[in-house]
Amino acid sequence: MAAFLAVVRIAIVRLDKFICDATGLTRSLAKKALHRGDIAVDAISIKDPGFKVTDGMQVTLAGEPLALPGTRYLMLNKPQDTLCSTIDEYYPSVLSLLDIPRAELLHIAGRLDADTTGLVLLTDDGQWSHCVTSPKKICGKRYRVQLAEPLIDTAEAQFAAGVQLHGERELTQPALLQRLSATEVLLTISEGKYHQVKRMFAALGNKVVGLHREAVGDIELDPSLALGEWRALTEAEIASVRG
Ligand code: URA
Repeated sequence: MAAFLAVVRIAIVRLDKFICDATGLTRSLAKKALHRGDIAVDAISIKDPGFKVTDGMQVTLAGEPLALPGTRYLMLNKPQDTLCSTIDEYYPSVLSLLDIPRAELLHIAGRLDADTTGLVLLTDDGQWSHCVTSPKKICGKRYRVQLAEPLIDTAEAQFAAGVQLHGERELTQPALLQRLSATEVLLTISEGKYHQVKRMFAALGNKVVGLHREAVGDIELDPSLALGEWRALTEAEIASVRG
C-alpha cells in the first residue's frame, strides 16, 4: 500500500506525550519505558518524562524510531460482510482490513450496510469527515444498484421529485437515476438516511439485491483496488471535499 503518513510539525511537546501519541501506549506505560531506559532522543538515553521534544529530534523506543501520525485520508473498497463500525460485532469492522498503526483512531465518513460493497472514506480529520456526511453540505453519493424486478417507467421522475420513505415525514431530496438495464441502475443521492437506497426502491415496490458505492462527491472508487484493498487519497481528492 502507498505510504500516507504526513510530515508532522510538532513545535514542542513533552516526551511522555510524544511517546503516547506515537505508540498508543498509556501515559503510565510510557513512563515505565522511560524509567527502564528504553527511550533515547538523538541517541542519548532520556528518563525525564517532561523532556521537551522539538522538530528534527529523533526519538527511539528500544532502538526503533518513533513518529507521530499525520492526518490520514484513505479510501477502502469495502467487501460484503464487514461493518462500518469501530468494533467487530457479528462481522469484522472495516478497520480490521487496514494494516496500519492506530487504525482505531479513524472516522468512517459515511457508513455502508454490511451487505453493501464499495467506496468507504476514512480519516482522522473530524472536520473533513463532517463535510462528507453533513446533510448541510451537498455531497453526492453514487451507487450501482441491482434490482430484483424490472424498474418502472416513472422511476426517474419519482426520484427527481422525491419519494416518501416508510416512517419519514419529509420526501427524499431530488436524486438522479440513470438506467443501465431493466434491473441495473446508477443512483446519485445527496442524503444519507438509514438504508436510504434500499428504502427508496422499496417505495417503488422493488427490492435491492446488490448495492455498490462507486463515488462520494468527486472521489471515485479506484478501479485498481480489489475488494478489501485501500489506498491513501491524493491531495486533489482531499481538496475536492473541502472545496
Ligand atoms: N443505502 C442503503 O440502503 N444502504 C447502504 O449501505 C448505503 C445506502
